[in-house]
Amino acid sequence: MMFPEYRPRRLRQNDRFRALVREHCVSSQHLMYPLFAVPGRNVKEPIASMPGVHQMSIDYIVEEAKEVYDLGLPAILLFGIPEKKDSKGSHAWIKSGIVQKAVEAVKKAVPDLLVVTDVCLCEYTSHGHCGVVVKEKKGVFRIDNDATLGLLQKAALSHARAGADMLAPSDMMDGRVGAIREVLDDNGFDHVPIMSYAVKYASSFYGPFRDAAECAPQFGDRRSYQMDISNSREAFREATLDMEEGADILMVKPGMPYLDIIRMLRQEFALPIAAYQVSGEYSMIKAAVQNGWLNENLVVQESLTAFRRAGADIIITYFAKDFARASF
Ligand code: PBG
Repeated sequence: MMFPEYRPRRLRQNDRFRALVREHCVSSQHLMYPLFAVPGRNVKEPIASMPGVHQMSIDYIVEEAKEVYDLGLPAILLFGIPEKKDSKGSHAWIKSGIVQKAVEAVKKAVPDLLVVTDVCLCEYTSHGHCGVVVKEKKGVFRIDNDATLGLLQKAALSHARAGADMLAPSDMMDGRVGAIREVLDDNGFDHVPIMSYAVKYASSFYGPFRDAAECAPQFGDRRSYQMDISNSREAFREATLDMEEGADILMVKPGMPYLDIIRMLRQEFALPIAAYQVSGEYSMIKAAVQNGWLNENLVVQESLTAFRRAGADIIITYFAKDFARASF
């Protein structure tokens, strides 16, 4: 009988061998936890399609931030649902806006926790689109890319002034990273990094988020500005532009269905890469867990490890707290 010389199983014999040769690992330090801030006090409203995730008023957001910090997680990603929406999304940049106030409160209570803010208009516009909508003719609308840039600059500057540690533009307008970099630099915020949603697909996996952030488009869809799910070379072009415009971190979104894109960016760019395990990915796993079909701890560990293996440095995930709790 002939045996092969090399037997991979020799190094799988027990936990010590397996740990010794493990190529990738995930720990709490790599994770970022998204939070949804709403106006009011004492509000903690469950999001039906995302079990375990809530819309919270700032008092609860602060409590949550403390818990996140105590669990050893480095950062939160803040989204805001404003008191009032209008066609331009003006509550995205007012000083007393929901995100601005939430940032101030969290930084005061937990100064060492990194507070990252999502910069986008869709939560603030009455039509739910991420940019300024112009009517071409009856029933035909267009997003005005360049008119949107000025509004994003205002929103970004207001977040920085409120004390945000990093900004994450998610609108997918062309030129937004450069526009935001410029306004930050011109106003004394050259030290504030930009984590760009560089490669954001027009994905159906955002469904539950749109309940959470109350930002489903009232007409049409986002395919004129988010990427076509069929494309990968385009991801390279988008990432190249954002890098040239000054992005500090490149993000790919959604996560698990796009591991090939994460890997491609990892190979092509030296910047840190973030992956967003989005709402739909979270809801699928949670639903299966609730039915007793999957083991939550094991599946979360596996899915987060897959992101790291594909090449992600940072993972934005609604499982961050669960993961941190399980690994303590
Ligand atoms: C837009 C934004 C979206 C998400 C993050 N930022 C939604 C969208 O583009 O429709 C999705 C996140 C998720 O699904 O978890 N501000």
